[in-house]
Amino acid sequence: MATVGSPWGWFLGCLVLGVTGLRVSGSGSHIINGEDCKPHSQPWQAALFLENEFFCAGILVHPQWVLSAAHCHQSSYTVGLGLHSLEASQEPGSRMVEATLSIRHPEHNKPFLANDLMLIRLSEAVPPSDTIQNISVASQCPTAGDSCLVSGWGLLVDGRLPTVLQCVNVSVMSDEACSELYDPVYHPSMFCAGGGQDQKDSCNGDSGGPLICNRTLQGLVSFGQAECGQVGIPGVYTNLCKFTDWIEKTIQASYPGDEDS
Ligand SMILES: *[C@@H]1O[C@H](CO)[C@@H](O)[C@H](O)[C@H]1NC(C)=O
Ligand SMILES: *[C@@H]1O[C@H](CO)[C@@H](O)[C@H](O)[C@H]1NC(C)=O
Ligand SMILES: *[C@@H]1O[C@H](CO)[C@@H](O)[C@H](O)[C@H]1NC(C)=O
Repeated sequence: MATVGSPWGWFLGCLVLGVTGLRVSGSGSHIINGEDCKPHSQPWQAALFLENEFFCAGILVHPQWVLSAAHCHQSSYTVGLGLHSLEASQEPGSRMVEATLSIRHPEHNKPFLANDLMLIRLSEAVPPSDTIQNISVASQCPTAGDSCLVSGWGLLVDGRLPTVLQCVNVSVMSDEACSELYDPVYHPSMFCAGGGQDQKDSCNGDSGGPLICNRTLQGLVSFGQAECGQVGIPGVYTNLCKFTDWIEKTIQASYPGDEDS
């Protein structure tokens, strides 16, 4: 049974509010205005647990490597793969794999909130199956107006979890609009999506999870405003097209016995 971990996304949201001066509201939610994903339609989706507590999401980008947000870093992880519900630990087709090696991007948080990604090496490679598949990172950067799917088990601020994985479509916003809204923390390692009239959004607890455009992995959930799903306020995603070299080289260079970084 999963319980509530640290609401990192929410924390970051509060920090951003501090610098932008936008309004804080007391409520938050899971993926906003989404729907239950078709079971196992996002077979690269990973759940990160620390001592049985779900705290962040991740993405299987290689049979032995999960990508997540650097702000989700811990000293060890239990990684759930092939899950639809977080509460069904014995879900058919699912696997729980241990991980102790994780490598944050060396420029994480330089500048503040930028380069929010890390790689987690699983203790063993997980062969692809009907419920578990790795996905490749987009080599092309997103274009404003692209429609992309975000998925997550994002937590409710009151401590409740959605029963099953939630999916929502959001539109990519232009870099100009994104940098204006998130000035002064905007950085080219980020892009914005969501903020439309439909109020679809990701939220706290979705951190580290995938944003998929045209069947490739374009972003991972990084941060947003404390109140999710506001019209005109998009979520912020790590712009993975800028990191394809780092991801490839890091995976190639690492071997069992590396120090945790
Ligand atoms: C999964 O990862 C392997 C190893 O990097 C790669 O050869 C394969 O193409 C990947 N599969 C997908 C669907 O991206
Ligand atoms: C997202 O958009 C795609 C393509 O338009 C559609 O097939 C899918 O049902 C949508 N999913 C959700 C959760 O809205
Ligand atoms: C989606 O990807 C396919 C091939 O990968 C490409 O031919 C097509 O133009 C892309 N569509 C959009 C809307 O980017």
